[in-house]
Amino acid sequence: MNNIKISKAIPSDAEGIQLVTAEASRGMYKLCGWSEQEIDNHFTPEKREKAIEGLGKAIANFTEDNILFVAKNDEGKIVGCCFAERHEDKNTIEALYVLPDFQGTGLAKQLFDKAYYLLDKNKDTYLDVFSLNIRGERFYQKQGFSETGKKTFDERFKGVDGKMLEITEMCRSSKI
Ligand SMILES: CC(C)(COP(=O)(O)OP(=O)(O)OC[C@H]1O[C@@H](n2cnc3c(N)ncnc32)[C@H](O)[C@@H]1OP(=O)(O)O)[C@@H](O)C(=O)NCCC(=O)NCCS
Repeated sequence: MNNIKISKAIPSDAEGIQLVTAEASRGMYKLCGWSEQEIDNHFTPEKREKAIEGLGKAIANFTEDNILFVAKNDEGKIVGCCFAERHEDKNTIEALYVLPDFQGTGLAKQLFDKAYYLLDKNKDTYLDVFSLNIRGERFYQKQGFSETGKKTFDERFKGVDGKMLEITEMCRSSKI
């Protein structure tokens, strides 16, 4: 954990953020039952290029409502990130990813705390987590989130058998 610095993302961080997302989420998809093949299908080089380009442009146009923090090691490599947004009626946590070597070190919590601090304290905060991502759900429960009862499916998360991963919505009330 030494020499890890957390800062706001800049457009040139897009590639590093995409890499950390892809690498950190492999374990998450495995936990949800996906095979290596299904994970590889989800992160093809074409999708990767598109994601990096889109993310770089998005960061360049960020306002104070888009909150993206990255954690970098002393070589400047991105090892974790947290993305949150302020909306008219609510806040959302869009993503939280930490490389396997940095999981269980408190870095995810540090990233989460920094992003959460900038959200609107008068509004509830929502997030989606795969129902089978026990570790993610437990992490968010410790940060004060609980399940709203809403479960959804998204075509983007479809395995080779055609089945989509179930998504659980969680919320942290502004009242706590
Ligand atoms: C889910 C995920 C974000 C959780 O991160 P994590 O690494 O377990 O989280 P942390 O290390 O911050 O916290 C875990 C524990 O380490 C503790 N910890 C360990 N060392 C610590 C330190 N030096 N300082 C503070 N806390 C420390 C934390 O207090 C916490 O303990 P607790 O569980 O008893 O409360 C992470 O596993 C991950 O990136 N997974 C893949 C992607 C994913 O699933 N994302 C979430 C859904 S989008």
